[in-house]
Amino acid sequence: MFHRMISRATLSTFTHPSALTATARLAPRSSNFFRPLTCTANRANQNDDPSKDPILSATNKAPSGASGEHEGQFARTDESVQIEYPPDSEMPAQPVVQGRGGMHFKRTLASFSLENRVSMVTGGARGLGLVMAQGLVASGSDLAIVDLNKAEAEEQAQKLIEQFHKENPSLEQLPNVTAHYADVSNPDSVNAALAEVLAKHNQIDNLVTSAGFTENFEAINYPFDRMQKLWGVNVDGTYLFATGVAKHLMERNAPGSIVMIGSMSGSIVNVPQPQAPYNAAKAAVRHLAASLAVEWAGHDIRVNCISPGYMLTALTRKILDENPQLRDKWTSLIPVGKMGTPEDLMGAVTFLLSDASKYITGADLRVDGGYTLT
Ligand SMILES: NC(=O)c1ccc[n+]([C@@H]2O[C@H](COP(=O)([O-])OP(=O)(O)OC[C@H]3O[C@@H](n4cnc5c(N)ncnc54)[C@H](O)[C@@H]3O)[C@@H](O)[C@H]2O)c1
Repeated sequence: MFHRMISRATLSTFTHPSALTATARLAPRSSNFFRPLTCTANRANQNDDPSKDPILSATNKAPSGASGEHEGQFARTDESVQIEYPPDSEMPAQPVVQGRGGMHFKRTLASFSLENRVSMVTGGARGLGLVMAQGLVASGSDLAIVDLNKAEAEEQAQKLIEQFHKENPSLEQLPNVTAHYADVSNPDSVNAALAEVLAKHNQIDNLVTSAGFTENFEAINYPFDRMQKLWGVNVDGTYLFATGVAKHLMERNAPGSIVMIGSMSGSIVNVPQPQAPYNAAKAAVRHLAASLAVEWAGHDIRVNCISPGYMLTALTRKILDENPQLRDKWTSLIPVGKMGTPEDLMGAVTFLLSDASKYITGADLRVDGGYTLT
């Protein structure tokens, strides 16, 4: 879309009759050196009136057309855009992924395996967390799901084991998958969850922090308590679990790998929905990963960040089904032309937790279909 706009503006510059005159006047064969001076003088004389300066009018305020009165509108937030998130009790459950976890005999590097590891995933009862958790189990890891919604975490843990058994009927030993309660923004709750996980698994080697949420309010009207909650879950929650697991790894003198789920919103500003605090929180998560990677490098604890783009979870599916215009706007901004699926994160998270990425720490892996490139 932006490319189309730019080329349209450029085209009108070079096809507008007065633009051609201006170009001809500015480029006499014998006086190339003075061109910029001539140009500056002309524009100053026109008092910055776009209608008198074809270049200014083409790049500053294009003629109204299909794209509306002002081209810049597509790159702005719009406070009238409101996304309604369902109450927690009506949040749709994420279906367990089918057909990705069976044994196979394709040659692949053994270093991608997570066998003999215990991985913990916060926010693992739903959405991206659940699907990444399933990817870790398929790659050989035991798993502790930690979530505010313990009932759903337990239900999904059960489904995950059933699916694994269906896809691996000859395996005698099933993975150990457990479910635990935590409010990631509360230090006491985090400590209690860590103790419970250690009681069940004896060790934690890997951590994925996926608990998080977004909300859309224009900044000047963002309710302060909601903003604190948002930062509490997205930033404090990530910090509390990362430090808790790092402390455990240091006590064990064991290596470990941590993946923080940030977002492309930590690097760009989404449009049209306004969400300044979420964007800032995800930028904090990305830099927290880099900072802790340096601090813990001497302990053999790696910390990386995954920044997903727009992903089709059960929740975003529901929201976009109800807002087809928003869906069209989002997909029009993604170079690959489609939203990602949670399954697109299975390989990325497995890679960063496994020995295949042993020399990678403090990195931000963008899984966004190229969104942040344009
Ligand atoms: N879905 C996307 O398009 C997308 C894109 C970029 C980044 N992300 C990020 O990915 C992560 C997962 O998002 P999702 O789309 O899967 O969301 P989701 O709502 O589907 O799942 C989030 C899970 O976190 C849990 N949770 C929320 N608050 C919690 C708390 N205080 N303590 C413990 N658990 C809590 C929820 O119960 C839920 O199970 C978030 O950090 C989100 O910001 C999502």
